[in-house]
Amino acid sequence: MANNQRVLSGMRSSGQLHLGHYHGVLKNWIKLQNEYQCFFFVADWHALTTHYDSPEVIADSVFDMVIDWLAAGVNPSLSKIFIQSQVPEHAELHLLLSMITPLGWLERVPSYKDQQEKLKEKDLATYGFLGYPLLQSADILIYKAGQVPVGEDQVAHVELTREIARRFNFLYGRESGFEKKVDSAIKKMGKKNGRMFEQLRKKYQEQGDNESLSLAQALIEGQQNLNTRDKERLLGYLEGSGRVILPEPQALLTKASKMPGLDGQKMSKSYNNTITLRAKPEKIEQQLMTMPTDPARVRRSDCGNPANCPVWQFHEVYSDDKTKQWAKQGCISASIGCVDCKQPVVDAVITELKPIQQRTQELLEQPDIVKGFLSEGREVARESAKETLQEVRQVMGLSYL
Ligand code: TRP
Ligand code: SF4
Repeated sequence: MANNQRVLSGMRSSGQLHLGHYHGVLKNWIKLQNEYQCFFFVADWHALTTHYDSPEVIADSVFDMVIDWLAAGVNPSLSKIFIQSQVPEHAELHLLLSMITPLGWLERVPSYKDQQEKLKEKDLATYGFLGYPLLQSADILIYKAGQVPVGEDQVAHVELTREIARRFNFLYGRESGFEKKVDSAIKKMGKKNGRMFEQLRKKYQEQGDNESLSLAQALIEGQQNLNTRDKERLLGYLEGSGRVILPEPQALLTKASKMPGLDGQKMSKSYNNTITLRAKPEKIEQQLMTMPTDPARVRRSDCGNPANCPVWQFHEVYSDDKTKQWAKQGCISASIGCVDCKQPVVDAVITELKPIQQRTQELLEQPDIVKGFLSEGREVARESAKETLQEVRQVMGLSYL
């Protein structure tokens, strides 16, 4: 599979996974693994940037998080899963990229100030926290990932990654005799492909036709006769630059999850409004049955309006049209009570989590299997990471032997 078809994403380990993670992130990963080669990793170093004073929280959640991924349907025979700190190559690339990263680029990333504001009780005026998005860039670039599934809040980090890649290629992708090397690479493609490549390039450069760009990129990736260097040259030539050593990734924007929390705000640990993936049925029932409803329905006989009720948002996620119709009518006319209205939601959440929890239990009883998946993922990841790093060292003048 071509590199630009590789998907990579990470998740910080800082606590239990909940329905927000399941509906907002994991279901998307599970879908992607059927379409792309996927790498998913636990971003334990990223978790340390904010939890450096309570590392036990991270250590405790890493393994549980991986088990929850697997239980939810991340399939280790399709996706490679691993732990960031187990692939130390990320750290070396982070260091090397830090040499070419202007401070202002990091200071201007919106999450830098936002998170400092939001997590006021923590001292986040650290070197590591400023470097958070650059570490993320290293995570992505070390695998030359083409697609990075992320939520809205992470798009700026992928954008920074693209800028870093461009700067890197600009600084280190220049070489003498570039044009000549490009010519001979095109020859290696054979007459027909070579001509097609030139046509696509022309169409892209003269008309800005993005489809031609993608077609040409795919054409290059698919050439058996070309080695990595030649492919990088042609990719760069195509876009009018030098060699593309680190390709720019795309953010694969995950649609904002509609998963509400128990109070109607977004479900998030920091709002204390979550239903965790491991919550027992009794707990789920208790949490949903005590959640607030439309404040206008003080008495059972008071009519309500679903638009003012967080339970309604759960119906939007879990109920079919018929149930929604029943809830809406019943609420507006006060023909059902809130307890009645909540019951189908309680049942749906419990039903959804039942098979997941069953698999969780099985995996908890077989930690060696989980460790096996992690070490296999790590091996595959490391191999790919080492390859990139070797090239990076070389162009930065660091290969002495
Ligand atoms: N910063 C991401 C988050 O908070 C986690 C992450 C770390 C990540 N490295 C990544 C996501 C690389 C995508 C790609 O969710
Ligand atoms: Fe909310 Fe349902 Fe009660 Fe209406 S009936 S207020 S939608 S819980």
